[in-house]
Amino acid sequence: MIGVSYSLQQGSFIIAGLLFILALAGLSKHETSKRGNILGSLGMALALIFTILATVLGTETAGVEVSQAAPSWAIIAIVVAMALGALIGILRALRVEMTGMPELIALFHSFVGLAAVLVGWVVFLEGAPDKLHAGELFVGVFIGAVTFTGSIVAYLKLSGKIKSAPLMLPFHNWLNLGALVVFVAMTVVFVFFPEGAAGWALMIAMTVLALLLGLHLVASIGGGDMPVVVSMLNSYSGWAAAAAGFTLNNDLLIITGALVGSSGAYLSYIMCKAMNRNFISVIAGGFGSDGAVVGEQKDYGTYREITAGETADLLKNSQSVIITPGYGMAVAQAQGAVADLTSKLRAGGTKVRFGIHPVAGRLPGHMNVLLAEAKVPYDIVLEMDEINDDFDDTDVVLVIGANDTVNPAAQEDPHSPIAGMPVLEVWKAAQVVVFKRSMATGYAGVQNPLFFRENSAMLFGDARERVEDIIRAL
Ligand code: TAP
Repeated sequence: MIGVSYSLQQGSFIIAGLLFILALAGLSKHETSKRGNILGSLGMALALIFTILATVLGTETAGVEVSQAAPSWAIIAIVVAMALGALIGILRALRVEMTGMPELIALFHSFVGLAAVLVGWVVFLEGAPDKLHAGELFVGVFIGAVTFTGSIVAYLKLSGKIKSAPLMLPFHNWLNLGALVVFVAMTVVFVFFPEGAAGWALMIAMTVLALLLGLHLVASIGGGDMPVVVSMLNSYSGWAAAAAGFTLNNDLLIITGALVGSSGAYLSYIMCKAMNRNFISVIAGGFGSDGAVVGEQKDYGTYREITAGETADLLKNSQSVIITPGYGMAVAQAQGAVADLTSKLRAGGTKVRFGIHPVAGRLPGHMNVLLAEAKVPYDIVLEMDEINDDFDDTDVVLVIGANDTVNPAAQEDPHSPIAGMPVLEVWKAAQVVVFKRSMATGYAGVQNPLFFRENSAMLFGDARERVEDIIRAL
């Protein structure tokens, strides 16, 4: 059988790699994100087509075979596995709610980690690798196993299947550090003795150690820091894929893994900065909320309620309005109604803008995606840093399903679990209306003194229904 030209395959991999870089560039701005997505999908389609062709037909250069065609039983197994995987993926993607995205992403990362572990083990079982490959293989299995169990714990925490309070084992930081030191020592020994009983014992011990380390790292991270963890696991899954690329001698997997790994690490860094967290502390685990509901016993005084009709009257008399959406807007699927309210107010001459906190919602860019879907113009959607100085001159702020991201305790209470996290300074506006269903706390589990301020009023109920009530009353 004639194989695929090796040069053509390598060329397609370079083009796919370039498309992935253009995709990342596109995804960095609202306006170009759709194009970025399309370019990334094209790159992935190209990569898949040539990988499958090369597997089925083998590759050749100038009539000389470079790699063999896979035996037919293997091709059948690959096709069945891909069809099953695609079916499960499509079904899950169709069913998932936007609010369930972070846990689904965490689950996907766990598969990448598991794949890297399996690739490493298969190559190990095929026969003793040379020194260089032994090192690659060992590191790849380690990163994969940490990603695998870490992502499963993240999935369980994000989906509420286990409690999100951090696990605090005594000397937890030393446990992590000790595990890393033991891993480095094992790697050195494995590079010299990858064969026989020593090789087997080291592979098994390292895999178990990495699986436990992944569990411990993520279990010891507090609820408020989970966004950073998800993007960090994203980064780990990239490095795991790159390591599998080295093991399999697949350049495209190395390029793609490195792109995912480095962009994930950069995103984690940006998020740490936005939340005023120390990058190293979060990576080392055991940082963030200690799970205690601090301030819960404190007497914040009484809160005031407001009706949709009264809110409509307030808005009628306002020149400038800022809307700060949060996770509750996603739960209520209120973005369409919020967009309608925005157009109505703007048509009446009111200046309306949105203030977006970097970790509002449950995934990076969550609010931006919802507002873009509802066709809110990009130029009135501002980042926290761009709008924080403007609350002083604002008549009304509508806090729609946000809680932690507008909590003044982050600035005022040094003992608060979210102390030091930058927040939207909504309380500086003349009047704040908070849309939520009850006095329950937000994700970090801390009470919000904003609700008890003199210039705040609570508009209880489902955010979408309340916004629709206001539109009717306007
Ligand atoms: P949260 O602090 O989570 O608060 C959301 C509020 O929405 C709740 O207080 C809830 O109050 C209200 N709500 C829920 N359903 C509602 C509905 N149908 N109608 C009206 N209100 C509703 O939200 P936030 O300000 O967006 O902060 C995000 C938090 O999530 C941060 O702590 C962040 O660290 C964390 N986190 C973020 C991410 C990323 S990457 N963005 C990922 C994981 C975790 P009621 O129950 O009283 O209605």
